[in-house]
Amino acid sequence: MKRRTIIGAILAIGVVGAGFAFWMMWRPEISPVSQPQSASHESLDRGRRIVEAGDCAVCHTRPGGAYMAGGLPLVTPFGALFTTNITPDRETGIGQWSLDAFERAMREGIARDGHFLYPAFPYVHYRKMTDADIADAYAFLMSVDPVKYTAPENRMIFPMNFRPLVSFWNLLFLQGNPLANVLDQSARWNRGRYLVEGPGHCSSCHSPLNLIGGEKTSELFNGGIVDGWTAPALRGMATAEHPWNEAQLVAYLTGEVADGHGAAAGPMLPVSLSIAQLPAEDAHAIAQYVLDLKNTSSGVTLPPCTPEAKPSAKALMGASLFDGACASCHGTAAPMRVIESRPALVQTSAVTADSPRNLIQTLLQGIPMSTAAASHYMPAFAQNLDDTHLAAIAEYLRNERCATRPWTDLEKTIKSIRAQEQQP
Ligand code: HEC
Ligand code: HEC
Ligand code: HEC
Repeated sequence: MKRRTIIGAILAIGVVGAGFAFWMMWRPEISPVSQPQSASHESLDRGRRIVEAGDCAVCHTRPGGAYMAGGLPLVTPFGALFTTNITPDRETGIGQWSLDAFERAMREGIARDGHFLYPAFPYVHYRKMTDADIADAYAFLMSVDPVKYTAPENRMIFPMNFRPLVSFWNLLFLQGNPLANVLDQSARWNRGRYLVEGPGHCSSCHSPLNLIGGEKTSELFNGGIVDGWTAPALRGMATAEHPWNEAQLVAYLTGEVADGHGAAAGPMLPVSLSIAQLPAEDAHAIAQYVLDLKNTSSGVTLPPCTPEAKPSAKALMGASLFDGACASCHGTAAPMRVIESRPALVQTSAVTADSPRNLIQTLLQGIPMSTAAASHYMPAFAQNLDDTHLAAIAEYLRNERCATRPWTDLEKTIKSIRAQEQQP
Protein backbone atom coordinates (compact mmCIF):
# COMPACT_ATOMS: atom_id res chain seq x y z
CA MET A 1 0.00 0.00 0.00
CA LYS A 2 1.18 3.54 -0.70
CA ARG A 3 2.02 5.71 2.26
CA ARG A 4 -0.73 8.17 1.35
CA THR A 5 -3.34 5.40 1.27
CA ILE A 6 -2.25 4.22 4.71
CA ILE A 7 -2.48 7.73 6.14
CA GLY A 8 -5.83 8.13 4.46
CA ALA A 9 -7.09 4.87 5.94
CA ILE A 10 -5.91 5.85 9.41
CA LEU A 11 -7.59 9.24 9.10
CA ALA A 12 -10.81 7.64 7.92
CA ILE A 13 -10.80 5.22 10.84
CA GLY A 14 -10.10 8.14 13.17
CA VAL A 15 -13.02 10.14 11.79
CA VAL A 16 -15.40 7.17 11.96
CA GLY A 17 -14.16 6.38 15.49
CA ALA A 18 -14.63 9.94 16.66
CA GLY A 19 -18.04 10.03 15.00
CA PHE A 20 -18.98 6.79 16.75
CA ALA A 21 -17.73 8.08 20.11
CA PHE A 22 -19.66 11.31 19.59
CA TRP A 23 -22.81 9.42 18.62
CA MET A 24 -22.36 7.11 21.62
CA MET A 25 -21.79 9.83 24.15
CA TRP A 26 -24.12 12.58 23.03
CA ARG A 27 -27.91 12.79 22.90
CA PRO A 28 -30.04 15.74 21.79
CA GLU A 29 -32.13 17.91 24.10
CA ILE A 30 -35.91 17.40 23.99
CA SER A 31 -37.72 20.76 23.84
CA PRO A 32 -39.32 22.00 27.04
CA VAL A 33 -43.10 22.06 27.31
CA SER A 34 -44.95 25.03 28.73
CA GLN A 35 -47.74 23.03 30.31
CA PRO A 36 -47.98 19.26 30.75
CA GLN A 37 -51.24 17.81 29.42
CA SER A 38 -53.95 17.36 32.01
CA ALA A 39 -54.82 13.78 32.91
CA SER A 40 -57.96 11.89 33.87
CA HIS A 41 -58.69 10.76 37.44
CA GLU A 42 -58.25 7.14 36.40
CA SER A 43 -54.86 7.86 34.92
CA LEU A 44 -53.73 9.61 38.12
CA ASP A 45 -54.92 6.67 40.24
CA ARG A 46 -53.09 4.17 38.09
CA GLY A 47 -50.05 6.43 38.11
CA ARG A 48 -50.01 6.60 41.90
CA ARG A 49 -49.89 2.81 42.06
CA ILE A 50 -47.16 2.50 39.43
CA VAL A 51 -45.07 5.04 41.31
CA GLU A 52 -45.53 2.91 44.46
CA ALA A 53 -44.65 -0.27 42.56
CA GLY A 54 -41.50 1.48 41.33
CA ASP A 55 -40.44 2.78 44.77
CA CYS A 56 -39.88 6.22 43.26
CA ALA A 57 -40.50 8.00 46.57
CA VAL A 58 -38.15 5.65 48.45
CA CYS A 59 -35.23 7.20 46.56
CA HIS A 60 -36.64 10.59 45.52
CA THR A 61 -37.79 11.72 48.98
CA ARG A 62 -35.01 12.44 51.50
CA PRO A 63 -35.70 12.02 55.23
CA GLY A 64 -37.63 15.09 56.34
CA GLY A 65 -37.75 16.43 52.78
CA ALA A 66 -40.73 17.14 50.54
CA TYR A 67 -42.36 14.29 48.59
CA MET A 68 -40.37 13.53 45.39
CA ALA A 69 -38.14 16.61 45.80
CA GLY A 70 -34.95 14.47 45.82
CA GLY A 71 -31.75 15.01 47.78
CA LEU A 72 -31.30 11.49 49.19
CA PRO A 73 -27.62 10.47 48.98
CA LEU A 74 -26.91 7.07 47.43
CA VAL A 75 -23.49 5.64 48.22
CA THR A 76 -21.96 3.67 45.34
CA PRO A 77 -18.47 2.19 44.95
CA PHE A 78 -17.81 5.20 42.69
CA GLY A 79 -18.79 7.91 45.15
CA ALA A 80 -22.01 9.45 46.43
CA LEU A 81 -24.75 10.75 44.20
CA PHE A 82 -27.98 12.48 45.07
CA THR A 83 -31.45 11.81 43.76
CA THR A 84 -32.96 14.63 41.77
CA ASN A 85 -36.14 16.64 42.18
CA ILE A 86 -38.94 14.96 40.19
CA THR A 87 -41.75 17.26 41.31
CA PRO A 88 -43.25 19.40 38.52
CA ASP A 89 -41.34 22.54 39.59
CA ARG A 90 -40.31 24.22 36.33
CA GLU A 91 -36.83 25.32 37.38
CA THR A 92 -35.54 22.66 39.77
CA GLY A 93 -37.85 19.72 38.99
CA ILE A 94 -39.21 18.10 35.83
CA GLY A 95 -41.98 20.65 35.15
CA GLN A 96 -40.60 21.36 31.66
CA TRP A 97 -40.39 17.69 30.69
CA SER A 98 -42.71 16.35 28.00
CA LEU A 99 -43.94 12.76 28.18
CA ASP A 100 -41.38 11.94 25.47
CA ALA A 101 -38.55 13.28 27.60
CA PHE A 102 -39.79 11.35 30.64
CA GLU A 103 -40.13 8.17 28.64
CA ARG A 104 -36.59 8.52 27.27
CA ALA A 105 -35.29 8.91 30.83
CA MET A 106 -37.20 5.82 32.01
CA ARG A 107 -36.13 3.66 29.08
CA GLU A 108 -32.65 4.94 28.21
CA GLY A 109 -31.44 6.91 31.22
CA ILE A 110 -31.11 10.25 29.37
CA ALA A 111 -32.26 13.51 30.99
CA ARG A 112 -34.36 16.02 29.05
CA ASP A 113 -31.35 18.20 28.24
CA GLY A 114 -29.52 15.16 26.83
CA HIS A 115 -27.11 14.29 29.67
CA PHE A 116 -26.61 10.67 30.71
CA LEU A 117 -28.11 9.63 34.05
CA TYR A 118 -26.25 7.29 36.36
CA PRO A 119 -27.63 3.74 36.52
CA ALA A 120 -28.20 4.06 40.28
CA PHE A 121 -31.52 5.25 38.81
CA PRO A 122 -32.80 1.78 37.85
CA TYR A 123 -33.80 2.60 34.26
CA VAL A 124 -32.44 -0.77 33.09
CA HIS A 125 -35.56 -2.16 34.80
CA TYR A 126 -38.05 0.66 34.19
CA ARG A 127 -37.24 0.19 30.50
CA LYS A 128 -39.37 -2.96 30.66
CA MET A 129 -42.50 -1.07 31.68
CA THR A 130 -45.45 -0.62 29.31
CA ASP A 131 -46.04 2.69 27.50
CA ALA A 132 -49.33 3.06 29.38
CA ASP A 133 -47.70 2.63 32.80
CA ILE A 134 -44.99 5.15 31.98
CA ALA A 135 -47.62 7.64 30.77
CA ASP A 136 -49.66 7.17 33.96
CA ALA A 137 -46.58 7.57 36.17
CA TYR A 138 -45.78 10.79 34.29
CA ALA A 139 -49.33 12.08 34.73
CA PHE A 140 -49.20 11.35 38.45
CA LEU A 141 -45.81 12.99 38.99
CA MET A 142 -47.03 16.10 37.13
CA SER A 143 -49.90 16.30 39.64
CA VAL A 144 -47.84 16.36 42.87
CA ASP A 145 -46.98 19.63 44.62
CA PRO A 146 -44.15 21.41 42.79
CA VAL A 147 -41.25 22.03 45.17
CA LYS A 148 -38.28 24.34 44.61
CA TYR A 149 -35.23 22.37 45.68
CA THR A 150 -31.93 21.42 44.12
CA ALA A 151 -30.01 18.43 45.44
CA PRO A 152 -26.36 18.88 46.48
CA GLU A 153 -23.62 18.28 43.90
CA ASN A 154 -22.68 14.64 43.34
CA ARG A 155 -19.36 13.44 44.69
CA MET A 156 -18.38 10.83 42.11
CA ILE A 157 -14.75 9.83 41.74
CA PHE A 158 -12.73 10.22 38.53
CA PRO A 159 -13.39 8.99 35.87
CA MET A 160 -17.02 8.24 36.77
CA ASN A 161 -17.65 11.95 37.34
CA PHE A 162 -17.52 12.20 33.52
CA ARG A 163 -21.15 11.31 32.71
CA PRO A 164 -20.72 10.36 29.03
CA LEU A 165 -18.84 7.25 30.21
CA VAL A 166 -22.22 5.88 31.25
CA SER A 167 -22.87 5.32 27.53
CA PHE A 168 -20.37 2.44 27.59
CA TRP A 169 -22.03 0.99 30.64
CA ASN A 170 -25.35 1.18 28.78
CA LEU A 171 -23.86 -0.68 25.85
CA LEU A 172 -23.21 -3.60 28.20
CA PHE A 173 -26.27 -3.55 30.44
CA LEU A 174 -29.10 -1.67 28.77
CA GLN A 175 -30.89 -4.51 27.08
CA GLY A 176 -34.38 -5.86 26.67
CA ASN A 177 -37.64 -4.25 25.75
CA PRO A 178 -41.04 -4.05 27.42
CA LEU A 179 -41.86 -7.56 28.61
CA ALA A 180 -44.00 -9.75 26.40
CA ASN A 181 -46.29 -12.19 28.21
CA VAL A 182 -45.15 -15.80 28.46
CA LEU A 183 -48.07 -17.60 26.87
CA ASP A 184 -48.05 -20.87 28.78
CA GLN A 185 -48.07 -19.05 32.13
CA SER A 186 -51.14 -17.64 33.88
CA ALA A 187 -52.09 -13.95 33.80
CA ARG A 188 -51.19 -13.74 37.48
CA TRP A 189 -47.70 -15.19 36.96
CA ASN A 190 -47.13 -12.75 34.10
CA ARG A 191 -48.34 -9.86 36.25
CA GLY A 192 -45.92 -10.95 38.98
CA ARG A 193 -43.04 -11.15 36.53
CA TYR A 194 -43.86 -7.70 35.21
CA LEU A 195 -43.91 -6.15 38.69
CA VAL A 196 -40.71 -7.92 39.76
CA GLU A 197 -38.62 -7.34 36.64
CA GLY A 198 -40.10 -3.99 35.61
CA PRO A 199 -41.16 -1.38 38.16
CA GLY A 200 -40.16 -3.44 41.25
CA HIS A 201 -36.52 -3.74 40.05
CA CYS A 202 -36.07 -6.50 42.64
CA SER A 203 -32.98 -7.97 41.00
CA SER A 204 -31.06 -4.70 41.37
CA CYS A 205 -30.66 -5.52 45.09
CA HIS A 206 -31.16 -9.29 45.01
CA SER A 207 -28.37 -10.10 42.50
CA PRO A 208 -24.59 -10.05 42.78
CA LEU A 209 -23.01 -7.08 40.98
CA ASN A 210 -19.86 -7.11 38.88
CA LEU A 211 -16.94 -4.73 39.29
CA ILE A 212 -18.58 -1.91 37.37
CA GLY A 213 -21.85 -2.20 39.21
CA GLY A 214 -23.87 -4.16 36.64
CA GLU A 215 -26.02 -7.14 37.65
CA LYS A 216 -24.34 -10.44 36.81
CA THR A 217 -26.83 -11.70 34.25
CA SER A 218 -25.99 -15.35 34.87
CA GLU A 219 -26.72 -14.95 38.57
CA LEU A 220 -29.92 -12.88 38.65
CA PHE A 221 -31.82 -13.23 41.95
CA ASN A 222 -28.97 -15.22 43.52
CA GLY A 223 -28.65 -12.64 46.30
CA GLY A 224 -26.64 -9.43 46.63
CA ILE A 225 -25.37 -6.83 49.06
CA VAL A 226 -26.98 -3.41 49.40
CA ASP A 227 -26.12 -0.66 51.90
CA GLY A 228 -24.27 -3.17 54.05
CA TRP A 229 -27.20 -5.61 54.17
CA THR A 230 -27.54 -8.98 52.50
CA ALA A 231 -30.46 -9.12 50.11
CA PRO A 232 -30.99 -12.90 50.23
CA ALA A 233 -31.34 -15.07 47.14
CA LEU A 234 -34.94 -15.10 45.88
CA ARG A 235 -34.40 -18.40 44.08
CA GLY A 236 -35.51 -21.67 45.56
CA MET A 237 -37.50 -20.05 48.39
CA ALA A 238 -40.27 -22.63 48.02
CA THR A 239 -37.82 -25.51 48.48
CA ALA A 240 -35.35 -23.95 50.96
CA GLU A 241 -34.29 -25.60 54.21
CA HIS A 242 -36.79 -23.28 55.88
CA PRO A 243 -39.34 -22.94 53.03
CA TRP A 244 -41.78 -20.12 52.34
CA ASN A 245 -45.37 -20.49 51.17
CA GLU A 246 -47.46 -17.92 49.35
CA ALA A 247 -49.35 -16.62 52.40
CA GLN A 248 -46.10 -16.06 54.31
CA LEU A 249 -44.49 -14.31 51.38
CA VAL A 250 -47.50 -12.04 50.80
CA ALA A 251 -47.44 -11.03 54.48
CA TYR A 252 -43.69 -10.33 54.31
CA LEU A 253 -43.96 -8.38 51.07
CA THR A 254 -46.69 -6.15 52.46
CA GLY A 255 -44.85 -5.05 55.59
CA GLU A 256 -46.44 -7.54 57.97
CA VAL A 257 -44.96 -10.31 60.06
CA ALA A 258 -44.74 -13.53 58.09
CA ASP A 259 -45.81 -16.49 60.14
CA GLY A 260 -42.70 -18.58 60.87
CA HIS A 261 -40.31 -16.08 59.24
CA GLY A 262 -40.54 -12.56 60.63
CA ALA A 263 -40.79 -9.18 58.96
CA ALA A 264 -38.82 -7.00 56.58
CA ALA A 265 -36.11 -4.72 57.96
CA GLY A 266 -33.37 -2.49 56.54
CA PRO A 267 -33.60 -1.55 52.84
CA MET A 268 -36.44 -4.08 52.37
CA LEU A 269 -38.76 -2.30 54.82
CA PRO A 270 -39.63 0.66 52.52
CA VAL A 271 -40.01 -1.75 49.58
CA SER A 272 -42.56 -3.79 51.53
CA LEU A 273 -44.41 -0.65 52.63
CA SER A 274 -44.72 0.35 48.95
CA ILE A 275 -46.05 -3.05 47.93
CA ALA A 276 -48.58 -2.74 50.76
CA GLN A 277 -50.08 0.23 48.87
CA LEU A 278 -50.80 -1.88 45.79
CA PRO A 279 -54.00 -3.88 45.24
CA ALA A 280 -53.80 -7.18 47.16
CA GLU A 281 -53.75 -9.22 43.96
CA ASP A 282 -50.47 -7.58 42.97
CA ALA A 283 -48.73 -8.80 46.14
CA HIS A 284 -50.07 -12.29 45.42
CA ALA A 285 -48.83 -12.09 41.83
CA ILE A 286 -45.33 -11.07 43.01
CA ALA A 287 -45.31 -13.90 45.55
CA GLN A 288 -46.38 -16.46 42.97
CA TYR A 289 -43.67 -15.39 40.55
CA VAL A 290 -40.95 -15.32 43.23
CA LEU A 291 -41.89 -18.78 44.50
CA ASP A 292 -41.50 -20.01 40.93
CA LEU A 293 -37.87 -18.79 40.66
CA LYS A 294 -35.95 -22.05 40.64
CA ASN A 295 -32.64 -22.57 42.32
CA THR A 296 -29.95 -22.46 39.64
CA SER A 297 -26.79 -22.34 41.71
CA SER A 298 -25.08 -25.72 41.87
CA GLY A 299 -23.63 -24.65 45.25
CA VAL A 300 -21.88 -26.84 47.79
CA THR A 301 -24.19 -28.90 49.96
CA LEU A 302 -23.87 -27.62 53.51
CA PRO A 303 -24.49 -29.77 56.58
CA PRO A 304 -28.10 -29.44 57.77
CA CYS A 305 -28.74 -26.83 60.46
CA THR A 306 -29.10 -28.24 63.98
CA PRO A 307 -28.81 -26.53 67.37
CA GLU A 308 -26.01 -27.29 69.83
CA ALA A 309 -26.96 -28.84 73.16
CA LYS A 310 -23.84 -27.58 74.92
CA PRO A 311 -23.35 -23.86 74.30
CA SER A 312 -19.90 -22.23 74.49
CA ALA A 313 -19.01 -19.80 77.29
CA LYS A 314 -19.48 -16.96 74.82
CA ALA A 315 -22.94 -18.24 73.88
CA LEU A 316 -23.88 -18.50 77.57
CA MET A 317 -22.88 -14.87 78.02
CA GLY A 318 -25.04 -14.11 74.94
CA ALA A 319 -27.97 -15.94 76.52
CA SER A 320 -27.92 -13.78 79.62
CA LEU A 321 -27.52 -10.60 77.56
CA PHE A 322 -30.50 -11.74 75.50
CA ASP A 323 -32.59 -12.17 78.64
CA GLY A 324 -31.80 -8.62 79.69
CA ALA A 325 -31.96 -6.74 76.39
CA CYS A 326 -34.18 -8.73 74.04
CA ALA A 327 -36.48 -11.13 75.90
CA SER A 328 -39.04 -8.46 76.78
CA CYS A 329 -39.94 -8.49 73.07
CA HIS A 330 -38.49 -11.71 71.66
CA GLY A 331 -38.70 -14.11 74.64
CA THR A 332 -41.22 -16.97 74.60
CA ALA A 333 -43.49 -15.21 77.10
CA ALA A 334 -43.18 -11.70 75.65
CA PRO A 335 -46.54 -10.05 74.85
CA MET A 336 -45.29 -9.33 71.33
CA ARG A 337 -44.81 -13.05 70.79
CA VAL A 338 -47.95 -14.22 72.56
CA ILE A 339 -50.51 -11.63 71.43
CA GLU A 340 -49.24 -11.04 67.90
CA SER A 341 -48.03 -14.63 67.48
CA ARG A 342 -44.68 -13.47 66.18
CA PRO A 343 -42.15 -16.13 65.33
CA ALA A 344 -39.17 -16.89 67.56
CA LEU A 345 -36.02 -15.09 66.43
CA VAL A 346 -34.34 -18.36 65.51
CA GLN A 347 -36.85 -18.72 62.68
CA THR A 348 -36.00 -15.41 61.01
CA SER A 349 -33.71 -15.22 57.98
CA ALA A 350 -31.42 -12.98 60.00
CA VAL A 351 -30.51 -16.00 62.15
CA THR A 352 -30.79 -18.78 59.56
CA ALA A 353 -28.70 -16.95 56.92
CA ASP A 354 -25.16 -18.06 56.25
CA SER A 355 -23.92 -14.52 56.85
CA PRO A 356 -24.48 -12.72 60.18
CA ARG A 357 -24.68 -9.38 58.33
CA ASN A 358 -28.45 -8.76 58.63
CA LEU A 359 -28.56 -9.80 62.27
CA ILE A 360 -25.72 -7.39 63.03
CA GLN A 361 -27.34 -4.58 61.01
CA THR A 362 -30.69 -5.12 62.77
CA LEU A 363 -28.94 -4.99 66.14
CA LEU A 364 -26.97 -1.85 65.29
CA GLN A 365 -29.77 0.06 63.59
CA GLY A 366 -32.92 -1.43 65.10
CA ILE A 367 -36.15 -1.08 63.11
CA PRO A 368 -37.31 2.53 62.81
CA MET A 369 -40.90 3.59 63.42
CA SER A 370 -42.71 3.47 60.11
CA THR A 371 -46.21 3.42 58.74
CA ALA A 372 -46.40 -0.29 59.56
CA ALA A 373 -48.05 -1.42 62.82
CA ALA A 374 -46.93 0.65 65.82
CA SER A 375 -45.44 -2.44 67.44
CA HIS A 376 -43.17 -2.91 64.43
CA TYR A 377 -40.38 -1.04 66.16
CA MET A 378 -37.08 -2.18 67.61
CA PRO A 379 -34.57 0.06 69.37
CA ALA A 380 -31.03 0.40 67.96
CA PHE A 381 -28.31 -1.15 70.09
CA ALA A 382 -25.27 0.45 68.42
CA GLN A 383 -24.61 2.67 71.45
CA ASN A 384 -25.64 0.33 74.28
CA LEU A 385 -23.85 -2.89 73.37
CA ASP A 386 -20.17 -3.17 72.50
CA ASP A 387 -18.72 -5.50 69.88
CA THR A 388 -18.04 -8.31 72.37
CA HIS A 389 -21.62 -8.20 73.63
CA LEU A 390 -23.12 -8.07 70.16
CA ALA A 391 -20.93 -10.99 69.08
CA ALA A 392 -22.00 -13.00 72.12
CA ILE A 393 -25.70 -12.46 71.36
CA ALA A 394 -25.14 -13.41 67.72
CA GLU A 395 -23.24 -16.54 68.72
CA TYR A 396 -25.98 -17.51 71.16
CA LEU A 397 -28.78 -17.11 68.58
CA ARG A 398 -26.86 -18.91 65.85
CA ASN A 399 -26.03 -21.72 68.22
CA GLU A 400 -29.69 -22.17 69.15
CA ARG A 401 -30.49 -22.67 65.51
CA CYS A 402 -27.52 -23.78 63.48
CA ALA A 403 -24.47 -24.82 65.50
CA THR A 404 -23.44 -27.06 62.62
CA ARG A 405 -22.62 -23.97 60.52
CA PRO A 406 -21.26 -21.48 63.04
CA TRP A 407 -20.57 -17.85 62.16
CA THR A 408 -16.87 -17.14 62.43
CA ASP A 409 -15.01 -13.87 62.96
CA LEU A 410 -18.10 -12.21 64.43
CA GLU A 411 -16.27 -9.38 66.16
CA LYS A 412 -14.27 -8.55 63.07
CA THR A 413 -17.45 -8.44 60.97
CA ILE A 414 -19.17 -6.21 63.52
CA LYS A 415 -16.21 -3.81 63.52
CA SER A 416 -16.16 -3.54 59.75
CA ILE A 417 -19.92 -2.97 59.53
CA ARG A 418 -19.68 -0.25 62.17
CA ALA A 419 -16.85 1.40 60.22
CA GLN A 420 -18.93 1.41 57.02
CA GLU A 421 -21.86 3.03 58.83
CA GLN A 422 -19.66 5.95 59.80
CA GLN A 423 -19.04 6.89 56.17
CA PRO A 424 -21.29 9.66 54.75
C1 HEC B 1 -32.73 3.31 43.69
C2 HEC B 1 -33.04 4.70 43.71
C3 HEC B 1 -34.01 5.25 42.69
C4 HEC B 1 -35.30 4.84 42.44
C5 HEC B 1 -36.04 3.67 43.08
C6 HEC B 1 -35.84 5.77 41.48
N1 HEC B 1 -34.91 6.69 41.12
FE1 HEC B 1 -35.16 8.20 39.79
N2 HEC B 1 -33.22 8.72 40.03
C7 HEC B 1 -32.35 8.19 40.95
C8 HEC B 1 -31.09 8.90 40.89
C9 HEC B 1 -29.86 8.63 41.75
C10 HEC B 1 -31.24 9.88 39.90
C11 HEC B 1 -30.19 10.90 39.45
C12 HEC B 1 -29.25 10.26 38.49
C13 HEC B 1 -28.20 11.20 38.02
O1 HEC B 1 -28.11 12.34 38.50
O2 HEC B 1 -27.45 10.81 37.11
C14 HEC B 1 -32.58 9.73 39.37
C15 HEC B 1 -33.10 10.50 38.34
C16 HEC B 1 -34.38 10.41 37.85
C17 HEC B 1 -34.91 11.21 36.78
C18 HEC B 1 -34.14 12.27 36.00
C19 HEC B 1 -34.46 13.61 36.61
C20 HEC B 1 -33.56 14.73 36.22
O3 HEC B 1 -33.82 15.85 36.65
O4 HEC B 1 -32.56 14.50 35.54
C21 HEC B 1 -36.22 10.85 36.61
C22 HEC B 1 -37.21 11.42 35.60
C23 HEC B 1 -36.49 9.83 37.59
N3 HEC B 1 -35.36 9.57 38.32
C24 HEC B 1 -37.74 9.24 37.75
C25 HEC B 1 -37.97 8.17 38.61
C26 HEC B 1 -39.23 7.47 38.68
C27 HEC B 1 -40.47 7.82 37.92
C28 HEC B 1 -39.05 6.46 39.58
C29 HEC B 1 -40.04 5.38 39.99
C30 HEC B 1 -40.67 4.64 38.91
C31 HEC B 1 -37.68 6.55 40.07
N4 HEC B 1 -37.07 7.60 39.46
C32 HEC B 1 -37.13 5.69 41.00
C33 HEC B 1 -32.60 7.13 41.80
C34 HEC B 1 -33.78 6.42 41.85
C1 HEC C 1 -33.29 -1.60 47.92
C2 HEC C 1 -32.92 -2.97 47.81
C3 HEC C 1 -34.03 -3.99 47.67
C4 HEC C 1 -35.02 -4.04 46.73
C5 HEC C 1 -35.31 -3.06 45.60
C6 HEC C 1 -35.77 -5.24 47.00
N1 HEC C 1 -35.25 -5.89 48.09
FE1 HEC C 1 -35.99 -7.60 48.94
N2 HEC C 1 -34.61 -7.47 50.43
C7 HEC C 1 -33.61 -6.52 50.51
C8 HEC C 1 -32.87 -6.73 51.76
C9 HEC C 1 -31.70 -5.92 52.24
C10 HEC C 1 -33.46 -7.84 52.40
C11 HEC C 1 -33.11 -8.42 53.78
C12 HEC C 1 -34.00 -7.75 54.80
C13 HEC C 1 -33.99 -8.34 56.20
O1 HEC C 1 -33.24 -9.27 56.48
O2 HEC C 1 -34.79 -7.88 57.03
C14 HEC C 1 -34.54 -8.28 51.53
C15 HEC C 1 -35.37 -9.37 51.82
C16 HEC C 1 -36.32 -9.86 50.95
C17 HEC C 1 -37.05 -11.08 51.16
C18 HEC C 1 -36.89 -12.05 52.34
C19 HEC C 1 -35.94 -13.13 51.93
C20 HEC C 1 -35.54 -14.03 53.04
O3 HEC C 1 -35.05 -15.13 52.74
O4 HEC C 1 -35.67 -13.66 54.22
C21 HEC C 1 -37.90 -11.22 50.09
C22 HEC C 1 -38.89 -12.34 49.87
C23 HEC C 1 -37.69 -10.09 49.22
N3 HEC C 1 -36.72 -9.29 49.77
C24 HEC C 1 -38.36 -9.89 48.02
C25 HEC C 1 -38.21 -8.77 47.23
C26 HEC C 1 -39.02 -8.50 46.05
C27 HEC C 1 -40.09 -9.42 45.51
C28 HEC C 1 -38.61 -7.29 45.58
C29 HEC C 1 -39.17 -6.51 44.40
C30 HEC C 1 -40.58 -6.23 44.45
C31 HEC C 1 -37.54 -6.82 46.44
N4 HEC C 1 -37.33 -7.75 47.42
C32 HEC C 1 -36.86 -5.64 46.25
C33 HEC C 1 -33.36 -5.50 49.61
C34 HEC C 1 -34.18 -5.17 48.53
C1 HEC D 1 -39.05 -3.15 71.97
C2 HEC D 1 -39.11 -4.46 71.39
C3 HEC D 1 -37.83 -5.08 70.87
C4 HEC D 1 -36.64 -5.28 71.54
C5 HEC D 1 -36.24 -4.89 72.96
C6 HEC D 1 -35.80 -6.03 70.62
N1 HEC D 1 -36.46 -6.24 69.44
FE1 HEC D 1 -35.77 -7.27 67.83
N2 HEC D 1 -37.49 -6.88 66.81
C7 HEC D 1 -38.56 -6.18 67.30
C8 HEC D 1 -39.59 -6.10 66.27
C9 HEC D 1 -40.95 -5.42 66.41
C10 HEC D 1 -39.08 -6.76 65.13
C11 HEC D 1 -39.76 -6.92 63.74
C12 HEC D 1 -40.78 -7.99 63.74
C13 HEC D 1 -40.24 -9.36 63.61
O1 HEC D 1 -39.37 -9.59 62.74
O2 HEC D 1 -40.69 -10.22 64.36
C14 HEC D 1 -37.77 -7.26 65.52
C15 HEC D 1 -36.98 -8.00 64.69
C16 HEC D 1 -35.76 -8.54 65.04
C17 HEC D 1 -34.96 -9.39 64.18
C18 HEC D 1 -35.34 -9.87 62.80
C19 HEC D 1 -34.89 -8.93 61.71
C20 HEC D 1 -35.07 -9.52 60.31
O3 HEC D 1 -34.32 -9.10 59.42
O4 HEC D 1 -35.92 -10.38 60.12
C21 HEC D 1 -33.85 -9.72 64.89
C22 HEC D 1 -32.72 -10.62 64.42
C23 HEC D 1 -33.95 -9.09 66.19
N3 HEC D 1 -35.13 -8.38 66.24
C24 HEC D 1 -33.04 -9.22 67.21
C25 HEC D 1 -33.12 -8.62 68.45
C26 HEC D 1 -32.13 -8.78 69.50
C27 HEC D 1 -30.94 -9.71 69.42
C28 HEC D 1 -32.53 -7.98 70.53
C29 HEC D 1 -31.78 -7.72 71.82
C30 HEC D 1 -30.45 -7.20 71.72
C31 HEC D 1 -33.78 -7.34 70.13
N4 HEC D 1 -34.10 -7.75 68.88
C32 HEC D 1 -34.52 -6.48 70.93
C33 HEC D 1 -38.69 -5.64 68.57
C34 HEC D 1 -37.70 -5.67 69.55
